[in-house]
Amino acid sequence: MKITSDFLVIGTGIAGLSYALKVADQGTVSLITKRDIDVTATQLAQGGIAAVSSADDSFTAHAEDTMVAGCHLSNPEIVDLVVEAGPAAVADLIDWGVNFSKNTTNQYDLTREGGHSHRRILHAKDATGREIERALVEAAQQHPNITIYQHHIAVDLITESKTLNKPLAENRCLGAYILDIDQDEVLTIGARFTILATGGAGKVYLYTCNPDIATGDGVAIGWRAGADVANMEFMQFHPTTLYHPNAKSFLISEAVRGEGAILRRSDGFAFMPGYHKLKDLAPRDIVARAIDNEMKLHGDDCAFLDITHKPADYIRDRFPTIYQTCLDYGIDMTREPIPVVPAAHYLCGGLKTDRSGETNIRNLFAIGEVACTGLHGANRLASNSLLEGVVFAKLAAETSLQRLNDPAPPYPTIPTWDSGCATNSDEEVVVAHNWDEIRRCMWNYVGIVRSNKRLHRAMSRIGLIQEEIVEYYWNFYITSDLIELRNIATVAELIIQSALMRQESRGLHYTIDYPETDEAGRKETLIPGAGN
Ligand code: SIN
Repeated sequence: MKITSDFLVIGTGIAGLSYALKVADQGTVSLITKRDIDVTATQLAQGGIAAVSSADDSFTAHAEDTMVAGCHLSNPEIVDLVVEAGPAAVADLIDWGVNFSKNTTNQYDLTREGGHSHRRILHAKDATGREIERALVEAAQQHPNITIYQHHIAVDLITESKTLNKPLAENRCLGAYILDIDQDEVLTIGARFTILATGGAGKVYLYTCNPDIATGDGVAIGWRAGADVANMEFMQFHPTTLYHPNAKSFLISEAVRGEGAILRRSDGFAFMPGYHKLKDLAPRDIVARAIDNEMKLHGDDCAFLDITHKPADYIRDRFPTIYQTCLDYGIDMTREPIPVVPAAHYLCGGLKTDRSGETNIRNLFAIGEVACTGLHGANRLASNSLLEGVVFAKLAAETSLQRLNDPAPPYPTIPTWDSGCATNSDEEVVVAHNWDEIRRCMWNYVGIVRSNKRLHRAMSRIGLIQEEIVEYYWNFYITSDLIELRNIATVAELIIQSALMRQESRGLHYTIDYPETDEAGRKETLIPGAGN
């Protein structure tokens, strides 16, 4: 089946939904999501959205905190752009119906997280993402120009150079092939503008607090189509996810530390003062490495997050989701410390974009976690990600709307999907095995502490798995599992390749072979898109 629309938006988290809402009055939008519409990383975001909102705070302070957390690898112009756009981004969310928590004087309540010098994080108790997703989904569902395709997954982008089968000085994106998972049919969607808002890739690691959908789809399909990627070595490990045999890496928000919680070893010792002057509110890379180090030094299985010194009523009111989830696992956080371990959380690198979120392929935009805009540098400052998603959705929308009515050179006819001589697979276990192997390999060899030896070992393992996947991909009908496996393998390879390229330690990339930060390394790690 062939569909055409003005805007093809892949992903229904904060970035994709904000973009769709910004453009929908001007044209038709096809909004694609591979599960139900609200199964997104946004939905799980606890902490909040950072934006300067009090008289004692300033754009300069927010920008400085972002630069320091990012180990001065962030692009200062982009940092200023995003920070200064913060208050308007928050106003947009409120206009779309988001209810942020207020304090007793009816002002928006501002919380704090690691690396922030001021209270500047708006939140909806400890389930900010759920509230944002609710409001934006409702607004999108009510818009007559937005058609929502649930249970549809992007297979590959359609570009002009691929369609004409020749390299072009300026390649344009013409849409994407999309698998209708329920009907087992590949749709061809032609669009003037294609927006990748597919989120991150935490599932490339064995332990992650990301939802199952975080398989790096946008990075992989964008890169395969020729879009450049940058800074893929910077995978952020969240310091505190719940450690419990039955808990699937449930996040314990950094806001818990923001409100006074202290990290302790199993013997009760509070170790963070020995690592950083900001103690428990040090930037995330430092806290995650400190926990990892303490666990290894003392043979502990986890660290402990202690907020028992705060009144029980306050804890229950401020952190209702975390309180209840811990209680469901038999842990009463008002009376005992929460066992925690680090887990993969946020990909700071991604498809490289310009100031309007556009990649090096014309009319292909990447917004949200899938993108590397230059904001996060070597380590994202807490609660800057929801902000980046809304700000770049707006910038990308403005650029595409300016271009919408421009006379464009004629577009070639897009071929429909051809599955060649593929047959049904009789060995689906291969997909599950490869998936498991990639995630273990990445956790063991490309984790919080790296070395050249481990990275090379990982590269050769992933290389072998890639060969198997490619063979499988071309011989059998595609399924969503196979698409995700192919994408995660590509992302794993890009992370390892980037990690090998960075011969220093900076932010989230720490290697025992180059333990120091090197001024010469203060530049992004760029991998040109495939075929470039
Ligand atoms: C958290 O609540 O700790 C996560 C916030 C973030 O990753 O920005």
